Amino acid sequence: MRRLAAVFAKRAWAIAFFAALGVLLYPYGRALVLNVEETPARRGYEIALRSGCFTCHGPDGVGGVKNPGSEDEEVPGFAGGVPMMWARDEAELREYILDGAPARKRQDPEYREKIRKWLLVMPAYRGFLSEREVDDLVAYIRARSDLIVPSDPLAAEGHELAVQLGCFHCHGPMGSGGPPNPGSFKGYIPGWWGHDFRDLVRNDDELRQWIREGNIDRLRTHPIARWFIDRQRVYMPAYKDVINDRQLDALVAYVRWVHAGGWKEQLRSAER
Ligand code: HEC
Ligand code: HEC
Repeated sequence: MRRLAAVFAKRAWAIAFFAALGVLLYPYGRALVLNVEETPARRGYEIALRSGCFTCHGPDGVGGVKNPGSEDEEVPGFAGGVPMMWARDEAELREYILDGAPARKRQDPEYREKIRKWLLVMPAYRGFLSEREVDDLVAYIRARSDLIVPSDPLAAEGHELAVQLGCFHCHGPMGSGGPPNPGSFKGYIPGWWGHDFRDLVRNDDELRQWIREGNIDRLRTHPIARWFIDRQRVYMPAYKDVINDRQLDALVAYVRWVHAGGWKEQLRSAER
């Protein structure tokens, strides 16, 4: 009897052990099985979140945080700048993050004097972030800046519309994907940069249907996909009543331009 109890006890331990292992490995297992996509810009967002960047730059880098003593009285956000106003080239962004400001500014006595009056100054993160993390932060900030735009007029119009209609709130800056979506198949909102997009959008007809109707026939009629569509807590809105055909063409051109990825040359770190 006692022996039997001992066997049971052992087995209970073994079960508990494997259950714990299963729980610990779950995110890795799921990422492997589901082929989870994580873009550099999404990783950069997560790094910004845990590095405290948004405490000063506002949630999601929208700006508006009060900075008494500075001329603008606010900490700048990551978007809405003009290219000449803030450092937007990669090297200067890197210097801001690592040293608090680019060398040309730090050496300027006027700048040093000016920021002494600011209650909030940009901290130097050198030693707190790895090179890889800085790469990802730069990818996020550049995607978030809204300054990487297509030269094709129709696609450029699509970019404007995407900002106005709020596509990026769900799909991430420049459609980099990743915001959580409980109940959905992969657990996050898909982006437009890589294989998630290719799986969900096989051709332009499907792309148009996604935007017009918020879902596509191929998934709607598939029993398993249907189950996840109904379960997901965040869903793709149907835009058909709020955009005209020209605007739909523009959005399609923009999303295609993002997916084609030629702009990544402007955003070197996005390719690593
Ligand atoms: C304590 C507040 C504070 C924190 C925390 C902070 N910043 Fe800043 N940041 C500032 C201020 C103030 C400026 C404006 C400096 C200037 O105008 O020279 C600035 C400027 C910048 C700039 C250049 C201006 C722009 O918008 O392009 C970048 C890029 C930047 N910060 C990125 C970051 C990142 C990334 C993090 C987190 C790793 C971060 N900041 C954390 C206060 C902060
Ligand atoms: C409220 C959040 C939300 C907004 C706003 C939103 N989407 Fe979506 N979108 C989703 C979700 C969630 C899915 C995935 C739906 C599914 O799997 O059923 C999706 C799917 C898509 C897809 C197909 C798959 C992919 O890779 O993304 C495209 C394309 C798309 N949306 C484009 C847009 C465009 C363009 C806009 C702006 C006009 C937009 N979305 C606005 C949530 C949103």
